[in-house]
This record gives sequence, C-alpha cells and structure tokens, in this order.
Amino acid sequence: MQFKTIIEPFRIKSVEPISLSTEDERLQYLKNAHFNPFLLKSDQVLIDFLTDSGTSAMSNNQWAAMMQGDESYAGARSWQHFEHTVSELTGMAFILPTHQGRAAERILYGHLGGTGKYFISNTHFDTTRANIEFSGATAIDIPVPQAADLESDYPFKGNIDTDKLQQLIIQYGENIAGVILTVTNNSGGGQPASMQNAKEVSAICKRHGILFILDCCRIAENSYFIKQNENGFQEYSFKEIAQQMFALADAAVMSSKKDALVNMGGFLTLRNKTLADACTQLLIITEGYTTYGGLSGRDMEAIAVGLNEVFDADYLKYRITSTRYLGEKIKSKGVSIVYPVGGHAVYVDAKKLFQHIPVNQYPGQALVCELYKTGGVRSVEIGSVMFGKYDANRNLIPAPYELVRLAIPRRVYTQSHIDYVVEVFDEIIKNKTTVKGFQITYEPEFLRHFTAHFKPID
Ligand code: F0G
Repeated sequence: MQFKTIIEPFRIKSVEPISLSTEDERLQYLKNAHFNPFLLKSDQVLIDFLTDSGTSAMSNNQWAAMMQGDESYAGARSWQHFEHTVSELTGMAFILPTHQGRAAERILYGHLGGTGKYFISNTHFDTTRANIEFSGATAIDIPVPQAADLESDYPFKGNIDTDKLQQLIIQYGENIAGVILTVTNNSGGGQPASMQNAKEVSAICKRHGILFILDCCRIAENSYFIKQNENGFQEYSFKEIAQQMFALADAAVMSSKKDALVNMGGFLTLRNKTLADACTQLLIITEGYTTYGGLSGRDMEAIAVGLNEVFDADYLKYRITSTRYLGEKIKSKGVSIVYPVGGHAVYVDAKKLFQHIPVNQYPGQALVCELYKTGGVRSVEIGSVMFGKYDANRNLIPAPYELVRLAIPRRVYTQSHIDYVVEVFDEIIKNKTTVKGFQITYEPEFLRHFTAHFKPID
C-alpha cells in the first residue's frame, strides 16, 4: 500500500512557538522594513522560507552528541569523530574544518585564484563567485542548455555543459584554476547533476590536469535524484552514491549548514598534500588550529552525527517528496515554477505570475512582499533585485529570470505548514492583477538585496 500523505519520519520533542499575526499587522511590519523582508524581525514571520541554510532542526542524537563535545585546543576527541566521518564520506585525506562554507571557499579560491585565473562551474553560488572575484579571478557559469528551459522536465538541469567546458579549456588553458560542480545547483533552481556528468567533467579535468572541485553542501539531496532518475544506481545506498561522486573529485567545499543538518559549520577536503599544506597555512591564520578550524568541539560532534543522519532513506524521501509536494501544488494552480522541483526549494517565476508588472518594477520583490503580507511567509527574490545591474544611463539591465525562492528548512515545518503556504498562494492568485510593482529608494553598491529599501508604485 502506497499512502499519499507524506509523514514526517520523526516525532517532535521540543517546540519553538511561532507568533501569529494579522494581515494589517504584517503590512505595518513590512512598511517598517521598507518592503524588504530581509529587514523583518524573525518574530514577525510565520513561515520562514528565506533559506535552508543553518535553519535545520537537530535530532536528539545530535543534541546528545553535543554534550560529548571535547573542547581541547589540539587533537580533541570531537575532531577525531569529525575527521573520521568526513574522510569516510569523501575519501579524501586532508580535512580542514571551517566555520561555514564561504570560509572554505575563501581559503581554496583565495589560494588558487588571482588575476588572470578562471573558474568554471555549472553555476557559481553568490559567495563562491564573490570569493573568486575578490581574488581577482574570473568565474564563468556553463550550465547545460536544457537548464534554460525552466519548465521542461529534463531531470539533470544541474549538469555542466561539457562541450563548452572543452572550448573554454582550449581558450584559457592552464589559467583555469578549477572546475566546480555545485550539487545541487542552488543558483540554477536547485537542480541536480548526474553521476554521468560528474564522470565526464572529472575525466576532462584529469586529461588537462585541472582541479575538479565539488561544492557538496546538498550532496545527499543530489544523491536522491541520482538514485531515482539515473540508470544503474537503484542498487546503491544514498551514501554510496555520494561516495562515488566524491571519488571523482580532487577537492570538496562544504557548507555544513545544509546537508550536515546543523546550524553552523563547514569544511574543505583535499587529496593533494602540497595544496593541503598551503590551505592549512591559511586555515591556521584565518580560522583556527588544524584540529578545530572555525568550529567548537560540540559543533564537530553535531556535524559528524548529522552527516550520517542525512543519508537515512526515510529522511531523504520525506525531504524530497515534501519539497516536491509544495512545488507540484503551486504548479497545479497555474503558477510557473522551475521544473522539476529541486531538493531544497521551490523557485517561482514571478514574471509569469505578475505579467502586468514590468521587470524594472521588480515582479519578484512584489511576490516576496505579497507572500509576507498575505500569509507571513518569508521568501527571497532572486531576480533583478539580486542580480540586476545598471547601464551608463542608470537603466536597469535585468537578470535573466525573475524568480522567488521558497527554501525549506530541514525537519522544521510539517505538512500542515506546507498546506498553509499553498493556501497563501490561492489568495495571491485571486488578487494577482491588483499587486503593485516596486521602486528602489535606497541601495548600497554591493549585494543590494540584503539592505535595499523599496516603495510600492501606485
Ligand atoms: N555554496 C552553495 C551552493 C550555497 O548554497 C552556499 C550557501 C554556500 C556555498 C556558502 O555557504 O553560507 O555556509 O557560507 N547558501 C545559502 C543559501 C546562504 O541561502 O542558499 P555558507
């Protein structure tokens, strides 16, 4: 018997109250936050889909492990537990603990980068790109062409375009400092990459002596899609699939705030000793000593336990099917989303939803505000507010898409929370032609989406 209801494979032992609010109250909160939900207080939010990063609920076993934290400066038991777990998963010899993903990026890309160097990826995540560009190097995105069709059901839109990769290798040769496969591809709709693609990219990199790096922060979710949709993987466990993918790479950067099911942490793993020695120097200077880096002993314990829990078949099935449930429900109401639904988030096409709002009036921001005002749901715009640029006359050069991401924290919300969000969409769809666009009234020079102020356009 296959039941339709997705049940959470856990019981709730500790609860955190959500403060309910009325639409009038939320409109006032939104005005006070200059119509930028990043500036809201979390107490003003009912369902927080801003990010899946660092927002997981830890298990009873993780909390118990935290009590075992050994806070010794050097050679702590917690370090041994952490190192053993990470090296068993990744198969890599050198493990560098960092306080979060971008610290691992800063160390690796800061060392490998510099002016004249190039990094190539399916899509660089913002902090990845920022660390690369900060070093003086250039970041080039080459997702497969199928990724451009947001609504097709091609299962591996997170793949790297291997033809383009070979062309770029001819063009930039030894100035290519690394090829980064981000699994799943967060900035590309949370879409998975196939093992076949990882194998091809790995072989091309090997042939040309280029470092192949996995950005593996959602690798358990990616493994689920491989087992489901790629031939030849049905017999393997999710962890074995992840191990096979790590085996293809020379290095991995991890934000543990995602698939390690913790609130803070990260690591960098490497195979090559010379590279590991250089990165270790930077680790000690900027993060901490080699056996804790940016982490306390208890953090390392929680990560070690989380990295095993995340590959649990019941957990992963619940995780992916509940994200898909939200996406499919919204889609069934005629709202365009990036399809197929990815692992950690649903990406809504706000331009298609609000066709009366021109791109220079930020339809994505309009949807983010509408979701909050109508139902207290916080989401994030990933369109022209986040990625738009100006030309010499201060006209907007829009981003390629006007998307809104609903990122789902792990093990935090229940089926009824998700059903509630679907109802919020019903309300928005009913009144969609009355929704207004926005103008920016204040913006900083960099990363404006975090702190910009907006005003609705009458
Ligand atoms: N790589 C990817 C693919 C990410 O999604 C993130 C973070 C990072 C690296 C950086 O990790 O935050 O631990 O420093 N993504 C979060 C998000 C912030 O909301 O998608 P970090």
